[in-house]
Amino acid sequence: PIKVIQDATLSVRNGRVTFAGSQNEATIQDGDTQVDLGGRALIPGLIDSHTHIVFAGDRMDEMARRTRGETYEEIAKAGGGIIRSVEALRHTAFDDIVNQSQKRLQHMLSRGTTTIEIKTGYGLEPKLENLQLDVIDELRESVSNNTIFATVLAHVIAPHRRDNRKEYIDEFCQEVLEPAASQKRVQFCDVFVESGAYTPDECIYICEKAKALGLQIKLHVDQLHEGGGAALAAELGALSADHLEMTSADGRQALAQAGTMATILPGCGLFLGGENWPNGRALRDAGCEVAVATDCNPGSSMVADLPLCATMAATQGGLSLEEAIWGITRGGAKALGLHDRGTLDIGDRAYFIVLEHKDWRSLLYNPAAAPIHSVFIEGQKKFGN
Ligand code: NIG
Ligand code: FE
Repeated sequence: PIKVIQDATLSVRNGRVTFAGSQNEATIQDGDTQVDLGGRALIPGLIDSHTHIVFAGDRMDEMARRTRGETYEEIAKAGGGIIRSVEALRHTAFDDIVNQSQKRLQHMLSRGTTTIEIKTGYGLEPKLENLQLDVIDELRESVSNNTIFATVLAHVIAPHRRDNRKEYIDEFCQEVLEPAASQKRVQFCDVFVESGAYTPDECIYICEKAKALGLQIKLHVDQLHEGGGAALAAELGALSADHLEMTSADGRQALAQAGTMATILPGCGLFLGGENWPNGRALRDAGCEVAVATDCNPGSSMVADLPLCATMAATQGGLSLEEAIWGITRGGAKALGLHDRGTLDIGDRAYFIVLEHKDWRSLLYNPAAAPIHSVFIEGQKKFGN
């Protein structure tokens, strides 16, 4: 589904694409500045539709434990995992959290990512969840208003609240979800549906409230177990269902029928090891549209590099290179409900990246060091020479 134009010209005015096509057909207007890119490939800016980049500290020790045979789930059950990132956040000063997150954001930008979704979920109490939203606001102000999109994530329930889950869920809805939606600080609501996290019924309860508040739904489903999560996402009319490592054939079909974007996160396969790579091929063959994102987070995918994830979606997930690059451009845009980017059609926002090489495939061919020359947001150079 991609279109390659040789000897092409792109023109931009007021942050929007005014022409993209063959040089022969381009018209240069008075006052335009022309830039010779030296035959390099130019592609739409990359779109990372699933991240958790607002966090503090690290969980390196857990990686070490996994190399000695413990699983992600066992570590979580033994008091590790998400809860540790919550504690780290609680004990880190606001400016420090902003700085740590800003570093990740700048790295992502240098790797070609021009639009980023960021989730809360390391608060697990209203005050800390809202603090994460404050950090996201700071990050947004530092780049551009149209670059960062925010999601309230119902991640897990803190151990001391598990005896009265309903009480916590209502508090979460009233003190995080409702104000965030009414202040238009967030666009999406996400729920982690998994044993040890939220049940399908709790997910439906939260999502119905979120929908009534005007938010769109994105879900973490079928990551560690096949829990009917894909069918649940389809039933809820979710914009995207993410992870899908364990999704069944029925689940894939439900997503395709509902038109819910299937978002795969190959960084988790790289980071957690084992057999659970998301099967992009099976999703495509079932008729799903497949987006690819980093899931950048300290526990399951300490990967901020979207080109690397696209390479893995192809080599480990069975996508073609064309499908993989679509998954981090137009696919990412669709997974965020955005119609103004991910392509370079007339009128689109001028989010684009220039590669060192003349062939767009160079982005995926050299995964550890994708050759990115420069990165533009709304026509303004944000990275590169
Ligand atoms: O997308 N699955 C749940 N949440 C994150 C991991 C969070 C963590 O381990 O810190 C994910 O994989
Ligand atoms: Fe995630």
